[in-house]
Amino acid sequence: MENNKRRRFLKLGLAGAALSFIDPFKASKLIASTENRLTSSPVVISTWNHGIAANKAAWEVLSNGGNALDAVESGVRVTEADVSNRSVGIGGMPDRSGHVTLDACIMDENSNCGSVGCLEGIEHPISVARAVMEKTQHVMLVGDGAKQFALDQGFQKIKTPIPEVKAEYQKWKKENKDLFKKPEINHENHDTIGMLALDANGNLSGACTTSGWAYKLPGRLGDSPIIGAGLFVDNEVGAACATGLGEAIIRIAGSHTVVELMRQGYTPQEACKMAVERIISKHKDLTNLQCCFLALDKNGNVGSFSVYNGFNYAYTSADKEALIDAPFDRNW
Ligand code: GLY
Repeated sequence: MENNKRRRFLKLGLAGAALSFIDPFKASKLIASTENRLTSSPVVISTWNHGIAANKAAWEVLSNGGNALDAVESGVRVTEADVSNRSVGIGGMPDRSGHVTLDACIMDENSNCGSVGCLEGIEHPISVARAVMEKTQHVMLVGDGAKQFALDQGFQKIKTPIPEVKAEYQKWKKENKDLFKKPEINHENHDTIGMLALDANGNLSGACTTSGWAYKLPGRLGDSPIIGAGLFVDNEVGAACATGLGEAIIRIAGSHTVVELMRQGYTPQEACKMAVERIISKHKDLTNLQCCFLALDKNGNVGSFSVYNGFNYAYTSADKEALIDAPFDRNW
């Protein structure tokens, strides 16, 4: 890594020297572009292919001069409202007692943050999380308290599980009696949407929302509502979010770790890889242990890394819209 850093420093130094006779604004953009991606222009990234539709909504906000916080909230609301999505929002899978409990958190450029956990019967947990951030003195509300707060704030009730999910659950219940069955997360079954955005003012925000591990024990919280695990934003440095097996991500305070590594000078890509390596080093059994990180730094450079292959993320900027496969440590 030291060598990587030195190479990067030399590259930037040479670019800077070569460009010293050019307009300083253009020079700074060109110097930045010697990294993955340069920019003072808005960028939004989000986990999995459900991120494509979510990014469109976020981009609508960013491209019209809106702020990153509004962008990430608008973006992930699309996924939360998608009844065909089995791992986020209204169409999410239930816990093993048949209740769909939703987790979400949001964080802005001033390190304000809000979170809800085990929230049942409300369509947009991300907006409830934002209301916790903006309207209370707290960061996190869970369970019945979170629901009561949402209702008091005027959020509409919804009925979950939706009929298709209820039917799947009834079938699962007949076939599965093993309480501690190994997780099957992210292999074919995508989970959390995490979204990170940089706006035209150079401010970062992030959002993260999920129905969590299907058939989890009642009361279980994953990484997604936990600031520092599923999401972390530090406007001086960058932002990161996570998807995958929440228990493993919590153990290393994953998203915070990624941001702190970027603070030390690692690129978003290097930081995500190092966080994944830390997860790998902490677990003897990696069977089905898929975890993925996504990061965006203050200059609009992005990176990602996952334990296993199969993780992808949606990227949107003024000049590029893409679904990108993340690098990984090993094959399934
Ligand atoms: N990453 C989502 C969860 O573990 O709940």
